[in-house]
Amino acid sequence: MAQLWGGRFTKETDQLVYNFNASIGFDKRLIDQDIEGSIAHATMLAKQKIITEEEKDAIVFGLKGILEAVKSGNLQIDENEYEDIHSFVEANLIENIGDAGKKLHTGRSRNDQVALDMRLYTRMRVQETDALLKELLKAILEIMENNLETYMPGFTHLQKAQPVTLAHHFGAYFEMFKRDRLRMKDIFERMNYCPLGAGALAGTTYPLDRDYTAELLGFYGPTDNSMDSVSDRDYLIEFLSALSTIMMHLSRFSEEIIIWNSNEYRFVELDDSYSTGSSIMPQKKNPDIAELVRGKTGRVYGALMSLLTTMKGIPLAYNKDMQEDKEVVFDAMDTVKDCLVLFTGMIQTMGFHSDRMAVSAMNGFTNATDAADYLVGKGVPFRDAHGIIGRLVLYCIEKNTSIDALSLEELKEISNKFEEDIFEAVSLKTCVEKRLTTGGPGPEAMKKTIERCKAYLNSENE
Ligand code: ARG
Repeated sequence: MAQLWGGRFTKETDQLVYNFNASIGFDKRLIDQDIEGSIAHATMLAKQKIITEEEKDAIVFGLKGILEAVKSGNLQIDENEYEDIHSFVEANLIENIGDAGKKLHTGRSRNDQVALDMRLYTRMRVQETDALLKELLKAILEIMENNLETYMPGFTHLQKAQPVTLAHHFGAYFEMFKRDRLRMKDIFERMNYCPLGAGALAGTTYPLDRDYTAELLGFYGPTDNSMDSVSDRDYLIEFLSALSTIMMHLSRFSEEIIIWNSNEYRFVELDDSYSTGSSIMPQKKNPDIAELVRGKTGRVYGALMSLLTTMKGIPLAYNKDMQEDKEVVFDAMDTVKDCLVLFTGMIQTMGFHSDRMAVSAMNGFTNATDAADYLVGKGVPFRDAHGIIGRLVLYCIEKNTSIDALSLEELKEISNKFEEDIFEAVSLKTCVEKRLTTGGPGPEAMKKTIERCKAYLNSENE
């Protein structure tokens, strides 16, 4: 056990206490950020003449050496020896370069150090999540472009409602994941300020240049209030909330794919490479990836609840409770990344049975609204038309047939307003093509939507 703070203590830490307290097992993934932050801190200390140029050069050389040695496998991060990644880096620095290494922590606390490391790391993961969302949007858009006239039933209450197209259905998810990207951008904008220089909680008496450190690390500027700087984890909560929303969207989409992939629907065919079999039932081809994405939603929501609860009773400023931010956040970031990558691959390789979708759209009276609208066109008030078509549907159910399969004579028995043009009016093609309101499924409306989607993806400041 090599501790940074042994001086005040006369007894060794109990081993169980040490293990319970240690975070190196999970914060070792912050090594790049810890070293990047330390290099910036040392550079600023030299600029402010708090350390010499030579000391700074030695520190920077030493820090880069540690990172290289860890990356190449020449230096192991010994989890029994060091409490956290900050101790590991500092101890190795001192061992490698001697006294200059002891000056690195001047005007800094692990409290602002960990606040910085976590921000740098999260900032990168926010950008990564955004890039993965963009890939998913591209995959969705491609399916939309290829399926402007792939008819399918649209549902409400999971009951067939009105016909739509596959392009239109996927377009709904395009909007959801687009909003998820906007949330990433928003989080980035709010979190991109540098907490380094807040010290333990009350700043420091050294003449630090916080603007300079912030600039070196690509932040918009330094955070303000030093107590808030070391105890703010809002950006993690915002990120977890946005990740939860992404998972909610992926989970809804997964649920639909699972239903569409069932024997009863067979709207889609999952690629063999994205399905799994059963150990006992040879006929099975299961949508496990979609099910796992749906299932993993729970742990991401859990991470959000966990951190919200951790933070709720913490007095200012830093308290060790906050170390609990890491495992749940890391797990949520990793989970969402895997889900986005796999989900994108799954839809890119998925086949669509457009024939089955069209048949399904034709059965189930998805054209009933259009039949009522037809009568409205013949001068029948909508409420009366609704009643007439209701009776017509009942008649069809009894006869086990559909509106468009009835003869004109049968139709006229129910209302003499029906003419030969009813068949055209309630055909699947007409029902979809006439829905041309902005955002509607008609192919001409969808083409405009797709243009907007493309313009969004191509725009530089999306
Ligand atoms: N491992 C700690 C964390 O993750 C680092 C900060 C420790 N600060 C302290 N005063 N003990 O929060």
